[in-house]
Amino acid sequence: MTKVLRSVVTGVGGFLPKTVVTNDDLARIVDTSDEWIVERTGIRQRHKAAEDEPVSDLAVEAARRALEAAGRRPEDVDLIVVGTTTPDLTFPATATIVQRKLGCPVGIAFDVQAVCSGFVYALSTADGFVARGRSKCALVVGAETMTRLMDWTDRGTCVLFGDGAGAVVLEPQEGEGTTADRGLLGFALRADGTKQDLLYVDGGVSTNGQVGHLRMQGNQVFRHAVVNISEAIFAAAADAGIDVHDVDWFIPHQANQRILEGVAKRVGIAEEKVISTVAQHANTSAASIPLALYQGLQDGRIKPGQLLLLEAMGGGLTWGACVLRL
Ligand code: COA
Repeated sequence: MTKVLRSVVTGVGGFLPKTVVTNDDLARIVDTSDEWIVERTGIRQRHKAAEDEPVSDLAVEAARRALEAAGRRPEDVDLIVVGTTTPDLTFPATATIVQRKLGCPVGIAFDVQAVCSGFVYALSTADGFVARGRSKCALVVGAETMTRLMDWTDRGTCVLFGDGAGAVVLEPQEGEGTTADRGLLGFALRADGTKQDLLYVDGGVSTNGQVGHLRMQGNQVFRHAVVNISEAIFAAAADAGIDVHDVDWFIPHQANQRILEGVAKRVGIAEEKVISTVAQHANTSAASIPLALYQGLQDGRIKPGQLLLLEAMGGGLTWGACVLRL
């Protein structure tokens, strides 16, 4: 079997801002209830960044923890890809701010904007550098301050989102070219720009010059989610050469408990293989997958060598899935 270079996750980190907002807290500002939110979404609380805490600060903390877990230092990092839809500034890219704050040397740094699919897109993009030997130590981060995009009078959206960051260190390692190799084994990315109206932000630099608020047709997004994600999962599994039943852990984007369960059921993954953090974190967009991975590792469920399936769907619409062996 020919030797191949694989992008291997060698460290994982996560960070949540201190302030916790419960469903009862939200019921004091919009016409909702803990019971409604839990029943329809599974969400019980979310974290909210402080006003003076930009998304780069969350990203830096998550990245520090990932580097420590990998036994690497900021000086080793030659590539930073940040998946975010809530950057500190319109430019420069949050990735370059993270690079500066961490004290990484001159290298490659850029953001990926695929909203809730940001981490899946960022990981697949970084693989293009790492698995070609163009990066020896990459940081892939998903970091968001989604609460900054909320219309706090819209109960259909403001209860769903939270802030946080997750990060992984990716390093090249030689594999045998089989599914037993550690590293990213396959992925499938998708986008359909005709579905923009279902989920978007009504502001932007070159339209109205505003930051804007998140707008969503929740039930329409829900309808597309399960079908779209399932197709991408089977495509990623085929790309990796694995059977979905071989997966040890399913780590979905944490939008809604009913979506996670619906997807798991449709693709034939047992409930006990699903990592869910939606109750504690809510939807942290691009941060949700690496945060869930971090949590699964921290509590000892996920172990090195296991086969992981990641998936997400978000504004665009964008969606996708990745298969990797830890
Ligand atoms: N509290 C109480 N009632 C609420 C509510 C809230 N927070 N949000 C909406 N409602 C109401 C609606 O106003 C509507 O009332 P009406 O029938 O009097 O008009 C009713 O609940 C049903 O609304 P609907 O949007 O059809 O509910 P739903 O069962 O689809 O649940 C979501 C709404 C948002 C929870 C659900 O559609 C969803 O999770 N969609 C996916 C969203 C998502 O994950 N997006 C991110 C993807 S990255």
